[in-house]
Amino acid sequence: TAPPEPTVTLQPSGTQIHSSVIYSGETVTVRCEIQGGEGAQWTYEWRPHKANTPPTSREYTISGATKSDGGGYSCRGKRDSSWTEWSKSITLTVLSPSKPTVTLQPSRTQIYSGETVTVRCEIRGGEGAQWTYEWRPARLNTPPTSSEYRITVTEFDSGGYSCRGRADRFFTEWSDIITLTVSSKPKAELRADRTAVPVGGSVTLTCSVNPSSSSSSSGWKYYWYRDGKSYKLVTNGQISVSEGGLYSCRGGRGEPVYYTEDSESVRIDTTVSNRPVVTLYPNWSEIYRGETITVRCEIHGGDTEWDYEWETNSTIKPPNQTEYRIRSASSSNSGNYRCKGRMKSSQHETTEWSDSVTLTVSDSKSYFL
Ligand SMILES: *[C@@H]1O[C@H](CO)[C@@H](O)[C@H](O)[C@H]1NC(C)=O
Ligand SMILES: *[C@@H]1O[C@H](CO)[C@@H](O)[C@H](O)[C@H]1NC(C)=O
Ligand SMILES: *[C@@H]1O[C@H](CO)[C@@H](O)[C@H](O)[C@H]1NC(C)=O
Repeated sequence: TAPPEPTVTLQPSGTQIHSSVIYSGETVTVRCEIQGGEGAQWTYEWRPHKANTPPTSREYTISGATKSDGGGYSCRGKRDSSWTEWSKSITLTVLSPSKPTVTLQPSRTQIYSGETVTVRCEIRGGEGAQWTYEWRPARLNTPPTSSEYRITVTEFDSGGYSCRGRADRFFTEWSDIITLTVSSKPKAELRADRTAVPVGGSVTLTCSVNPSSSSSSSGWKYYWYRDGKSYKLVTNGQISVSEGGLYSCRGGRGEPVYYTEDSESVRIDTTVSNRPVVTLYPNWSEIYRGETITVRCEIHGGDTEWDYEWETNSTIKPPNQTEYRIRSASSSNSGNYRCKGRMKSSQHETTEWSDSVTLTVSDSKSYFL
């Protein structure tokens, strides 16, 4: 008959485990079974020999396992002063997974509503185990086992997140809480150093995304539009333009691209060389209350059709037409008048302002009486 053969078994909580992987803090019983040696009086020897266990016992218990309990175990038995062979060594692995950490991708805690962020639970030292993950708040737990979630955030996703891992009966600690702050979708802001392109020059337009705290302003690209069409994509927000047009911009970042709200539009004009002249009919710069006078904006040159704009410090403003007829003048018509033209065919081309003409309405008829 075959000689009796020892085997080492590991038994946590009375149930034989299939793997020899346990977690730090768990309790495991190591036992020497000798096949074909039942009923006999055996004494046992262990490798390695544990200092505080009786060297001859059939089993011993490791409670509160630590990393140093990991390693190979084998045993042999003695009967009638003869030893069996050493058993095969069984390897005990004691995992001591660290507290998990929650990470964010992109790795900033300031997120805008509508951006997509990946929340991940990482357990260092937990390699080799089959983890399932638990999240706080629990609404992330769908499906309940995933180590990461990709969420398109709304303002309701603001708050603290933490996770823990579970493998068999073992739970890690809860991770530290990472706090996500979701702010409302930002609006791009457009600044123009001037709104008219000087002859032969250009205008600098600057697009920015607010609030621009250093961490949340990173990574923006700026999308420029002219007259509603894509115009330019730049990384520093600034462009220099010499064409007239209705300009706007927005910021975008990430993959897929997350866009801010569009900025307000800014109209940039180019200046043509025709210069308007304001004339008074009749040609009197000082008139009396109740008299009639016409203020006219005249632009010479070509068949160009114009829209007119007036600027005055009088109390009554002229309409945007080439001529302003004052039927019965009052002191509210007194003031400086100047005008400019905007080409009907190209709304971005304007003349310069005319020189100002002063109209004074005197309240002094009685002077003559
Ligand atoms: C109107 O009068 C001013 C001086 O009062 C003169 O310089 C100017 O040429 C006149 N303009 C017209 C169109 O007559
Ligand atoms: C004239 O046009 C300008 C520019 O389009 C506008 O801001 C202004 O309000 C207009 N004025 C009047 C009296 O219609
Ligand atoms: C308009 O401005 C001119 C120059 O700044 C000033 O002399 C004049 O009194 C002003 N007129 C009115 C009605 O404010």
